Amino acid sequence: MEVIRVKDYDGMSEEAASILVERINRLDNPVLGLATGSTPEGLYKRLIEEYKQGNVSFKNVKSFNLDEYVGLEKNDPNSYYYFMKEKLFDHVDISLENVRVPNGVASDLQQECKDHEAAIQASGGIDVQLLGIGANGHIGFNEPGTPFSSKTQVVDLDESTIEANSRFFDSIEDVPTQAVSMGIETIMNSKEILLLISGAGKAEALDRLINGDVTEDLPASVLKNHPNVTVIADDAAFTVIDSK
Ligand code: GLP
Repeated sequence: MEVIRVKDYDGMSEEAASILVERINRLDNPVLGLATGSTPEGLYKRLIEEYKQGNVSFKNVKSFNLDEYVGLEKNDPNSYYYFMKEKLFDHVDISLENVRVPNGVASDLQQECKDHEAAIQASGGIDVQLLGIGANGHIGFNEPGTPFSSKTQVVDLDESTIEANSRFFDSIEDVPTQAVSMGIETIMNSKEILLLISGAGKAEALDRLINGDVTEDLPASVLKNHPNVTVIADDAAFTVIDSK
């Protein structure tokens, strides 16, 4: 695991954007694993800028999103499909036929999980998977205790995750309690992984990731077993480590 320390959120976004632009330009048919949340928003803004300046094209890009809330329609402003359209897809030359966000309202969710998994495999696998991290160490929506051998599945959200994500909803009762999430094994099958960590709220998770054991209690710790992971973390995320 290579760890790149940057000054702040902007520095993290800039570093991540330059890595992604390089990969997209280098690969003939790049397959990206995309994430939602506040963390990658700045990165997506920069990718849009790079696209507008003619430095990158998404014409040949395929993408798979990590997760989606169960029960939210594509046009629900809180769905991750909506997020991706608003924050990235609508502003670059990616074809919507080439993007796949799990369908959280599929009539057969188990089948939807299998389809997501199969579509990733059929694409040849994810070249670069982007990840954020939950304060409890979750990746995607794989909460502490999720087996490392998990594939795309329907998951129950932790109380703390529901609380953390309630900031986007009118009330905490509106936050879905389940999601479809790529599994940990699905994530680990990616050829390269970029983990972005920003802010003091993630400082404990970063400390546990860097200084702790590989354990299902901290889902992100599995990344230490992957041969090609880059963590980009800002000064605020280092506050717990720095205080030791
Ligand atoms: C959410 C998402 C994750 C994300 C994490 C952190 O629940 N499912 O993919 O990495 O929580 O979110 P944020 O970046 O807003 O802190």
